[in-house]
Amino acid sequence: MSLPKVFMDELRTRVPLSDIIGKRMKLTRAGREYKGCCPFHKEKTPSFTVNDIKGFYHCFGCGAHGDSIGFLMSHDNMTFMDAVEQLASLAGMRVPKPTPEDEKKYKQQASLYDLMELATKWYEQQLYDPKNKKILKYLIERGLSSETIKSFRLGFAPSEEQGLKQTLLKAGFKIEDMIEAGLFKNSTKNQNDTYPFFRGRIIFPVQDFQGRVVAFGGRVLPEAYGGPADKSAPKYINSPETSIFHKGRMLYGLSRARKAIGDGETVVVVEGYMDVIALAQAGFKAAVAPLGTALTETQIQELWKVMPEDKRAPVLCFDGDAAGQRAAARALERVFPILKPDHSIKFSFLPKEHDPDSLIKDEGVPAMERVLKNAIGLFDMLWQEEAKDRDLSQPETKAGFRAALEKRARQIADMAVQQFFIHEINQKITDVFLTKTSSKKQFPGKPFQKGKPVTPGIHTPYRPQSVRAGQVRSDKSKQMERTRILLALMIHYPELYEEFGESLGTIKIPDTEYDQLRQALIHLLGEQNSLDYQAVKQHLSGLGHGKALEAIFDSSLYLHAGFAKPGQSLDTVRQAWQDIWEIGFMNARMS
Ligand code: UTP
Ligand code: MN
Repeated sequence: MSLPKVFMDELRTRVPLSDIIGKRMKLTRAGREYKGCCPFHKEKTPSFTVNDIKGFYHCFGCGAHGDSIGFLMSHDNMTFMDAVEQLASLAGMRVPKPTPEDEKKYKQQASLYDLMELATKWYEQQLYDPKNKKILKYLIERGLSSETIKSFRLGFAPSEEQGLKQTLLKAGFKIEDMIEAGLFKNSTKNQNDTYPFFRGRIIFPVQDFQGRVVAFGGRVLPEAYGGPADKSAPKYINSPETSIFHKGRMLYGLSRARKAIGDGETVVVVEGYMDVIALAQAGFKAAVAPLGTALTETQIQELWKVMPEDKRAPVLCFDGDAAGQRAAARALERVFPILKPDHSIKFSFLPKEHDPDSLIKDEGVPAMERVLKNAIGLFDMLWQEEAKDRDLSQPETKAGFRAALEKRARQIADMAVQQFFIHEINQKITDVFLTKTSSKKQFPGKPFQKGKPVTPGIHTPYRPQSVRAGQVRSDKSKQMERTRILLALMIHYPELYEEFGESLGTIKIPDTEYDQLRQALIHLLGEQNSLDYQAVKQHLSGLGHGKALEAIFDSSLYLHAGFAKPGQSLDTVRQAWQDIWEIGFMNARMS
């Protein structure tokens, strides 16, 4: 059922969530939030929180999570539309009339869930039918207990259509619904004929976060159990995307794992259906898997949402071979843009030739525990990934290595996290490659240069003429010029602020106008980290620094400092900054 987004947003903000929940249970204020004993599971100490600003409730005990509408739906057992109506009347708003298409879609979705549930039951029945006992035997021989098989609702789809269609028709579902659900396909030979999508396969029902079956995975049977002799059939096939099944957002096993995840158990992300099941049976209750694709950003974020606040680092399990390394590298790349403070992932690698299922079977639970215990963090993974295949014996290759690491770290959108990564990179580069010969204090952005003289000549392409030796200008005016260039760089490249803002704050600027502009600039960039240079200039002029800006960006600037123009590569401007800093300010500040 889709209502206009503006209406829904307004509805959520008009009535504070704590009002709605506070009428139904006891809430006490705790800082900016409210706390109480979770109404969705039994508990004595409150782990249920309500945040009016975010408009969300969250239980750290059982993982229950949602907005005002979600609360009314799960707590008062309301339908979506009833919850909307009730909220609207509280807020004094009128619910926009749904279009007939909306109504139709809503009804269709509701019936899809029922259809999938009935199909699940039917597949389960087939598995326990005496004529299919070989199939059940296969699962038992693979080490699954009857309880596990039941609790994951495993089933069997016979190779010939044997009544699923009839069962669904009898319950009132139409052929179109079965096709929409992905259970049947139109025959290519006869347009009026359909055939079942899953044939001769073991069925793994996929449940959404609320535990409703929304899709199936189907595994081919081994030849000895009646499977095809030719190996061309895919081992697994999965339901297509439907209005209730979103591959990239859902995770196999998540609804079952919810409680364990909320309790803070180690979240393990594996590759396959069988891995999740084997792990659960072995006591790793918080195991999940993507659905036949690589783990997406959204899936990681969904996991973070249900994990306790201080433990948001699911362990991703990869194969111990080259393909596993490549998959880990891709996961690393994906997670950088979405990292936030206290949100992370870890990487673990299985022994070669094993997946979690086979590892537990062959070598026992402790072997799996070791794998998880040896998981490495993001920073180590990044270092390892970048160091791989590099010759790190030469100064220039070391420099290249550092540049590559920093470039990667800049993919982290969250500035606080990015800053710590860059700091950590420089720290480790120092520890590993640079001998500690000087006790001089480090300064932000360049700890790797600790006490080392700059090699003359290597930065010539970026070196402004005004800082070249042999010029006739006085020291004082040269220093003014350098200050002006640094200010110009910081204004045109606000990205430099994280790294160099603090050092800019420490230099002596005799000119009052420049000095005041510097203060305003630092203040501005410290508050807002996503401004572009035009916005920065606008802000500064708005604050009364127009004259100083004119003086800085007087046309003479680019004659000797072309790199201060907008649109240069960040590497170029960073290098320029560092050069000017070293020549003009480093010693002045350190002495
Ligand atoms: P695997 O080939 O590792 O299978 O695929 P598995 O899960 O270990 O299964 P068993 O132990 O052989 O029974 C891992 C996952 O990749 C997806 C499935 O989600 C599977 O669980 N997959 C694999 C597909 O979607 N299609 C395929 O053809 C193969
Ligand atoms: Mn396997």
